[in-house]
Amino acid sequence: MTGSFHRLAEKDRPTVEFFIDGRAATGLEGDTLLVAILNQAEALRHSEFGDGPRAGFCLMGACQDCWVRLENGTSARACTTPVDAGMRVLTKASGAQWLTNGS
Ligand code: FES
Repeated sequence: MTGSFHRLAEKDRPTVEFFIDGRAATGLEGDTLLVAILNQAEALRHSEFGDGPRAGFCLMGACQDCWVRLENGTSARACTTPVDAGMRVLTKASGAQWLTNGS
């Protein structure tokens, strides 16, 4: 998996295992979910409104562009949520359809 972010420093923190669209992924302890995802993926999620891949905008909790769906049915604002071991993130349209199907 190629990421949009490239980690330059603090590479020696303990790893955190999580999942992106069912695939095993690794972040570092203290990463936000946004950083952990974008270190391994080109996009944070795909827009539920069909306007393409999203990667967040403000990175400080203000714009709401970084909400991601989790497999357990909840969602998280990726730029302010620390990545946790075992988190299961959905970035594909199938996960976003959950939003638009009225479920
Ligand atoms: S990137 Fe703006 S709220 Fe997360």
